[in-house]
Amino acid sequence: MQQDTTEWLEATPAGYARAVALWQDGAVVAFPTETVYGLGADAGNDRAVARIFAAKNRPQANPLIVHAPSIAAVRRYAYWNPQAERLAHAFWPGPLTLVLPLHPQAELSPLVVAGRKTVALRVPRHPVAQALLRAVQRPIAAPSANLSGRVSPSTAAHVAATMKGRIAAIVAAGAAEIGLESTIIGLWEAPVLLRPGGIPLEAIQAVLGYTPRPYHGEGGAVVAPGQLPCHYAPKVPLRMNARKVRPGEVLLGFGAIECHLNLSARGDLAEAAAKLYTCLHRLDAACPAGGIAVSPVPNHGLGRAINDRLRRAAASAGTRAECQTAPE
Ligand code: TXA
Ligand code: MG
Repeated sequence: MQQDTTEWLEATPAGYARAVALWQDGAVVAFPTETVYGLGADAGNDRAVARIFAAKNRPQANPLIVHAPSIAAVRRYAYWNPQAERLAHAFWPGPLTLVLPLHPQAELSPLVVAGRKTVALRVPRHPVAQALLRAVQRPIAAPSANLSGRVSPSTAAHVAATMKGRIAAIVAAGAAEIGLESTIIGLWEAPVLLRPGGIPLEAIQAVLGYTPRPYHGEGGAVVAPGQLPCHYAPKVPLRMNARKVRPGEVLLGFGAIECHLNLSARGDLAEAAAKLYTCLHRLDAACPAGGIAVSPVPNHGLGRAINDRLRRAAASAGTRAECQTAPE
């Protein structure tokens, strides 16, 4: 649903009260989490959830993550198993999403799970997300607060740039601490990795005793639509593992090198993850004629998630023409 104005709410008791009132009214409110900003609405309200899909231009076949403030609060939405319990206790609240068999009495809008028999659950640790979820006492469905297929927002300003006029309000706090989306583990059978993210695979391995395999669906069917290559796309072309800059390109560096912007001059993967989307937003807005070149990023720890997002961005590189016409 289009709205004339989008309210800018501070992370104060008054701001929380307004956000909760809007959620109770079925409106869409963007809010910070430690990974990226989310576009939240009451997960039990069909019309509210439909508004999320409309605001994002998101295909209705792509299910949403349900957010709640504690393990106790998400327990009733799914059937649990011992591995899910271990991961939840190890990493919640935090940047982990678990996909579990949907409980028939979950009372979530069918739109949230896009008609599936599984549900994605997350307990974020960001203090503002915690305060809002505790105050509203409802499950909140929330995808990343970007237009479908575009770069995720790590600041409230990123959200406003594309969502202003499309949603009821934005609760503004600082930049997201992690800067990349949650790690998603599917647990309807043996654990599988649906999306690398804020919890490194090595940490998951340490809890489970083995590494969940990347899941590509049966017969090649995509299970998490976020696995599609066309996600996280800047409007200009992007090239990974670049060791030299080509004419017209801007270089997004990693490590002690000369470049336009540096993900982390000291080669720190957590710093690089936190800066990735902000750097992509900035370089994309500058519309470099030759596109964006990115230095090699080591493929371990958070580097795996960074490379995953860069690979998807590179696969769906925009065109110069689109760049010139798209609003900023
Ligand atoms: O860090 C995050 O996870 C952020 C913050 C706001 O929580 N949210 C986020 O949501 O990244 P979204 O919608 O942008 O990405 C969630 C991914 C999508 O690729 C979706 O297809 C997948 O999770 N997903 C959701 N429910 C699923 C399910 N039942 N089975 C498989 N994949 C699912
Ligand atoms: Mg997203």
